[in-house]
Amino acid sequence: MSPSRNPRRAQAILFGRNPHQYDTFDVEAEAAEALGIDSYQVDLSALLSGNASQAVSAVPERGALELLYRGWMLTEEEYTALDEALSELGHRLTTTPEQYAAAMYLPNWYPRLAAYTARSVWTDGPDATEAWHAARALGPPPYIVKDHVKSAKERWAEACFVPAGATREDFERICANLLEERGDRFERGFVVRRFLPLKTYGQTPAGPAHLEFRLFFGRGRLLAAEPYHDFDVEVPDFTAFEELGRRLDARFFTMDVAMLEDGGWVVVEVNDGGVSGLPASLDPRELFSALLRAG
Ligand SMILES: Nc1ncnc2c1ncn2[C@@H]1O[C@H](COP(=O)(O)OP(=O)(O)O)[C@@H](O)[C@H]1O
Ligand SMILES: [Mg+2]
Repeated sequence: MSPSRNPRRAQAILFGRNPHQYDTFDVEAEAAEALGIDSYQVDLSALLSGNASQAVSAVPERGALELLYRGWMLTEEEYTALDEALSELGHRLTTTPEQYAAAMYLPNWYPRLAAYTARSVWTDGPDATEAWHAARALGPPPYIVKDHVKSAKERWAEACFVPAGATREDFERICANLLEERGDRFERGFVVRRFLPLKTYGQTPAGPAHLEFRLFFGRGRLLAAEPYHDFDVEVPDFTAFEELGRRLDARFFTMDVAMLEDGGWVVVEVNDGGVSGLPASLDPRELFSALLRAG
C-alpha cells in the first residue's frame, strides 16, 4: 500500500528533455514560467545509462516537492529509478510508477477497456512466429502491430499495417521492421490488434490520418480534448468518456479515441499524461492550470 498523497506538498514540473536541442517542451517550460510554476530538469542521458542520482542532481534537496514529469517516454524501469532517486531527495512524482505502467502498457489497460477498443493479443518477447500464432485468435488480417507501448506508424506499410491476405512471411517481415524501428526501445513484446474501419480524414506522409482525438484525464476528470492531427475539426463533447477514464488506476493519462466509419467511437490507445505529446491546439498553460494546484 502506498501512503496517501500529502496535499500540502508544493507542486513543480520535472522536464525530461534534451537540453541541447529545441523541442516542444521548451514551449511547456515557458508556459510553466508564465504560470509561476517552478520547473526542474532531469538529465535523461544519465537516467538512461543507469545513473539515476546523477540524473536528478539539478533538483534541489529541499521542500518535499510533488513533481509532475513531462518529458520523453521512459520504460517502467527507468521511471521507477527516477521515482527512487527523487524520493531519496524527499520528493515524489505526481504519477507513481504503478500508475505510469497502468496507462503505458497495453496488457495493463486493455482488460479494463476491452469492450471499447480493437481486439488484441500480445507476446512477451520479440518472437514474430509466436505473435502470428497468437493472432489466430483474432481471425485473419488486416491487423496492426506494435510493441506493448508504441507502433512504428511512421513506416505504416512496412512496419505497422498488416493487410488482408497477408501471409505468415509478410507478417514476420512487418514485425522484423517494427523491431528494427523500435531498436533498443522495443517494449517487452508484440501486440497484434484487429484493424478497425476508422473514419479517414486525411493523409500523413506515411499513412492514413484518422478522425482521432486525444483526451487528457487528470484529478479524476476530463481536462482537455483536442484533435490528434492538426486538422481544423470541431471537437465533440467527450464528457461521457469520463466513465471510461475511471476504469484506470492512473492519475494523469491520455486516451486517444477515434471515430469509426459508422459513426461510433473506439479507444485507440492509452498513455501516461506525462509523456503524451500535446496536440498543436492545446495550450500547455490551460492543461497545467487544470492539473496543478497553485503553489
Ligand atoms: N485497431 C486499429 N484499427 C485501425 N487503425 C488503427 C488501429 N490502431 C491504431 N490505428 C491507427 O494507427 C495509428 C497508430 O496506432 P497507435 O496505437 O496510436 O500507436 P502509437 O502508440 O505509435 O501512436 C493510430 O493513430 C490510428 O490511426
Ligand atoms: Mg497513438
